Amino acid sequence: MSQALHPMLNIAIKAARSAGGIINRASMDLDLLKVNTKAPNDFVTEVDHAAEAIIIETLLAAYPGHGILAEESGRAHGAKDSEYVWIIDPLDGTTNFIHGFPVYAVSIALSYRGQIQQAVVYDPTRNDLFYASKGRGAFLNDKRLRVSKRTRLADCLIGTGFPFRKGDNFKRYMQMFEVVMQSCAGLRRPGSAALDLCHVAAGHTDGFFETGLSPWDIAAGALLVTEAGGLIGNFTGESDYLNQREVVAGNPRVYGQLVTLLSPYTHVIANDEPKSDGASEAGAALTPESALLAGLGLQGGTSADDAPATAPPAVKKAAVRISKESMAREKQAAADADRKPPRARTPRGGDAPF
Ligand code: IPD
Ligand code: CA
Ligand code: CA
Repeated sequence: MSQALHPMLNIAIKAARSAGGIINRASMDLDLLKVNTKAPNDFVTEVDHAAEAIIIETLLAAYPGHGILAEESGRAHGAKDSEYVWIIDPLDGTTNFIHGFPVYAVSIALSYRGQIQQAVVYDPTRNDLFYASKGRGAFLNDKRLRVSKRTRLADCLIGTGFPFRKGDNFKRYMQMFEVVMQSCAGLRRPGSAALDLCHVAAGHTDGFFETGLSPWDIAAGALLVTEAGGLIGNFTGESDYLNQREVVAGNPRVYGQLVTLLSPYTHVIANDEPKSDGASEAGAALTPESALLAGLGLQGGTSADDAPATAPPAVKKAAVRISKESMAREKQAAADADRKPPRARTPRGGDAPF
């Protein structure tokens, strides 16, 4: 028997597809793209801003009382005291996007009372929609996802992300890289953490680790992993990772082996090198935004209780050159899509918690 998608998931899918439309159109003429630099090697474009704007508009039109935590605008929009908080990365993989390297995605998660309940990661280059509702399984388009069954790390393909920001602890990362590289069959650095986690959920990779990530990079992908039967946590194997700037995920057997290898490197960014210009590094002082985030967390499969800590503040900039006309076209496209049956089919499986 089929179940309808949760209404909040449906709205998130609509928002992600609208953002994907903006991203796809812009990808056809990258020469026109206006790129701003948040920090060395850390970029934001007008497309990030426009995609974020349409996502927020879509979500708040449906749920005006909900909170918003978005990469480019932080907590500027939405309610500040809601138990529902949408966590948004409008374009995960901006560096790839700028270069025309087709690995990037829209990532939207909904946290309710600190638990991620709904998740969408939309890859507009392939029209691939990854989605999950807590307790109902993880899906790619029509297909139910399961993590891989590999048990020996030596046979595994592992995803990772390279440090690239000033203040990242590159030398310690190289030690981790070496130890994992020598223990597995291959390492990949695709360049979109949200998609990296979806690949773990889909069993395309067997595990993933990265340092320096923010909640919007991983919130949606994390629910995909756990709903596909995987585990996700910090380098010491606890589920307190969303704001910890270190994350490891995998099928249950591989997750355990990665934690064994990575636990000596826990909190490398916070402990081993002085902060650069501060704001976005792990261990930054509790800010109003991080205080708000303190309730946000995810339970990694069967692992321990949540104990969220501080979150990095969003770094914001830059000009928006997406025209009102193209926003209007997006809205029209979204309205048209509303009149059609949803492409994503109904998940089957466990009881919904709502
Ligand atoms: C980045 C991607 C990348 C990861 C970076 C993130 P952005 O997100 O997820 O894979 O290595 O740390 O910042 O900046 O393109 O949204
Ligand atoms: Ca990101
Ligand atoms: Ca982004």
